[in-house]
Amino acid sequence: METKTDTSFDTMFQQDVFDGLTAHPKFLYSKYIYDKKGDALFQEIMAMPEYYLTECEYEILKTHSEEIVDLFQDKETGFDLIELGAGDGKKTKVLLRELVTQEIDVTYKPIDISQNAIESLTTALTAEFPSLEVAPERGEYFKVLERLKSFTDRKKVIMVLGSNIGNLLHPKAIDFLTQLQESLAEGDLLFMGFDQKKNPQTILDAYNDPTGITEAFNKNLLHRINTELGADFEVEKFTHWEVYDPENGTAKSFLVATEAMKVDIDALDLSVTFDPWETIHTEISQKYDDKVVSWLAEESGLRIRTSYTDAKMYYKNYVFQKGN
Ligand code: AVJ
Repeated sequence: METKTDTSFDTMFQQDVFDGLTAHPKFLYSKYIYDKKGDALFQEIMAMPEYYLTECEYEILKTHSEEIVDLFQDKETGFDLIELGAGDGKKTKVLLRELVTQEIDVTYKPIDISQNAIESLTTALTAEFPSLEVAPERGEYFKVLERLKSFTDRKKVIMVLGSNIGNLLHPKAIDFLTQLQESLAEGDLLFMGFDQKKNPQTILDAYNDPTGITEAFNKNLLHRINTELGADFEVEKFTHWEVYDPENGTAKSFLVATEAMKVDIDALDLSVTFDPWETIHTEISQKYDDKVVSWLAEESGLRIRTSYTDAKMYYKNYVFQKGN
């Protein structure tokens, strides 16, 4: 019955689910994983021993906090530190602590899509750092970026941690970096985390934990469609599958139908069929090396100023500035 022709929906979520589940092969966008439950599952992922990314970036920030803060600060004007996808701020706090200790003139502006995350972060920060100026904002990256262009009174540093850029294939990553570049003025900086290529097994393990947290995280997409769009996915009949291609550095997540199924989605007036072993692609987690990051920077009108890595060289934070 995949015959619906009037494809104007009330929300982007409805539209995107419709487009993804009527496409061949099927896909869903990973950004929709993050509701309250999805946020909590991602917190659990970040605490898993297999998910090395968090620990590595934490180590980098901890080890180099003085040098990083030195690079960020502007003794004359002070600066604005803008973080996209701030989440729970666990890693950022390392830098904020250093900034507060050195009594540096800074306004911290965390931006996140989740209202939930923004509120609890702001509460936690004002309690922990009463002297820190915090100016939170809720919104989608691309929309907020447009507004950031008017932040020209003083130096700004835009920060994107967690290898969040990894959810984007290279052409989209270049769009994103180009928008970031366009919102930078001369002298502003962009500080970004990029998970690096490494032993493919280590990468697979990070997205294939034995306790099934990552599986539950991906399946949250189906639960959301069930509860928010009145669908009847039998979630347990899907299995989580991860692949990593060491040639292009792309890790891909799938939900695989273990038998033939028909799923009705009331709010979309849509009924979707699955063949046995048919897939829904749910997420990409791109891995990088210096060559690829240099290429992305060049394509986006950015220049790499410096970079920091952890002892195992699993992860890297790059500092970019405007201009090739
Ligand atoms: C938040 C996009 C960086 O891809 O590593 C973690 C999300 N997915 N485990 C990643 C995620 C499965 C994460 N990012």
